Amino acid sequence: MEKQNLADCYVSEEHGFILQDPLDKLPDYYKPWMDIAEHLTVLIETKKLRDAVHQMPELDIQQLKGHRQKRLARTVLSHMVMAYVWQNGETGGVKLNANRREKRRSWISAATEEKYTGLDPVNAVPHRPSVQVLVVGKVLPRALAVPYHQISLALGLPLIMVHADLVLANWKKKDPLGPLTIENLSTIVSLPGGDNLQGFVLVTLLVEVAAIPAARAIIQAVKSVESDDKQTLIIALQDMECSINKMKEAFHLFYDYVDSDVFYSTIRLFLSGWKDNPNMPEGLIYEGVSEKPLHFSGGSAAQSTIYHAFDELLGIQHRPDSSDFLLKMRHYMPPAHVGFIKWVQEAPKLPAYVLKCEDTALLSIFNQCISALSELRSFHIRIVSKYVTTAGIRARMKKNEVVNHEEQERGTGGSHVMTFLKSVRDTCKEGTLKHSIPGDH
Ligand code: HEM
Repeated sequence: MEKQNLADCYVSEEHGFILQDPLDKLPDYYKPWMDIAEHLTVLIETKKLRDAVHQMPELDIQQLKGHRQKRLARTVLSHMVMAYVWQNGETGGVKLNANRREKRRSWISAATEEKYTGLDPVNAVPHRPSVQVLVVGKVLPRALAVPYHQISLALGLPLIMVHADLVLANWKKKDPLGPLTIENLSTIVSLPGGDNLQGFVLVTLLVEVAAIPAARAIIQAVKSVESDDKQTLIIALQDMECSINKMKEAFHLFYDYVDSDVFYSTIRLFLSGWKDNPNMPEGLIYEGVSEKPLHFSGGSAAQSTIYHAFDELLGIQHRPDSSDFLLKMRHYMPPAHVGFIKWVQEAPKLPAYVLKCEDTALLSIFNQCISALSELRSFHIRIVSKYVTTAGIRARMKKNEVVNHEEQERGTGGSHVMTFLKSVRDTCKEGTLKHSIPGDH
């Protein structure tokens, strides 16, 4: 594969997987979208977001020019979709009890031209059905669903907000000439959670920023193996280890910028998906797009390309369950970034090369990379324990609710969090290579 040029994968030497200089404005034609995006948090908090979407005209994506305009449109619409679905809380109008569910069952056309004005989407029943579909779930109105589908097709992304929307394309510098530091950054589109939401997105962004040298090092490492250049490979792996350690340092900023209770009680909801989610078992109907409800996993940094590239480079083989989930997450990344992972995957295998070289310095730096990555994953587990497990227990205790272990264990992407994360961290450690150099045991 000829993907040796970072730019071919929208991976830049300077910005890694982050979108370079995201736009924060769209052409005037898209004013109805931008007006909502600018006031998104207030509209959600006053529960007026759905009304605003119902009044939105159906716009055509043809007026969008170039990759950055498309990414901004996708970021704006993704936020609107999450806001629309979760405006009324996690059970907002979806979890119906048997009687109410029976009453609300209606045979309707999901592809109808009818407009839903001011109705709770669960109740929205057009008058003249054409195709009969049993709807017991939510309906995303076509003025949002249709352009969202078009822009998602154009960018090769699923019909839900992903890491690339929430983080990679959602940042701007306050002082354009200033550095990429948290003080000099803000998001372009926000969700409820105030400074904590800003902190959540921007710290995640800074972890990606810290990973930029690692992306360069991966390219260098692949090329060095191809050209049998051991010395350059050692330097590339040193750079990679250093970059992974910097990612961990950036990760620590969560403690300063994100309150775990705000994360748990407010932010987490807007990242939730409608796949394996008991609050939305029926999925979501995208009016004018699909007559059947569709199911998508929520936003998660499991959709961050760099970790997948590390695993491919270092030859880490996750257990089938974990691997299934992680492979699915690749469908939630920009296709060009997946192209980068595939390029690493298809390159000559690094662990085999390291063993073949029988060089102590090379073996040692390879193992240091494995251990840095395992430690990064262990730190991430501590974050998840604080921000999901412990904060969840506290939230339930405050409400005098019984803690349901099954629900505690479910992550934004619907996985069994701790079991999954520990398995991924442990298989990562198992990637350590043993000395095979005679007399060097
Ligand atoms: C408050 C902060 C965070 C929380 C609560 C959190 C939570 C989770 C959860 C629940 C999962 C399991 C998969 C899922 O259900 O989606 C997960 C996976 C993952 N997260 Fe996070 N996460 C946080 C921050 C981050 C950040 C900043 C990164 C890196 C940029 C990251 C990288 C990953 C990766 C790579 C996985 C997949 C497992 C792996 O490869 O080790 N997370 N995270």
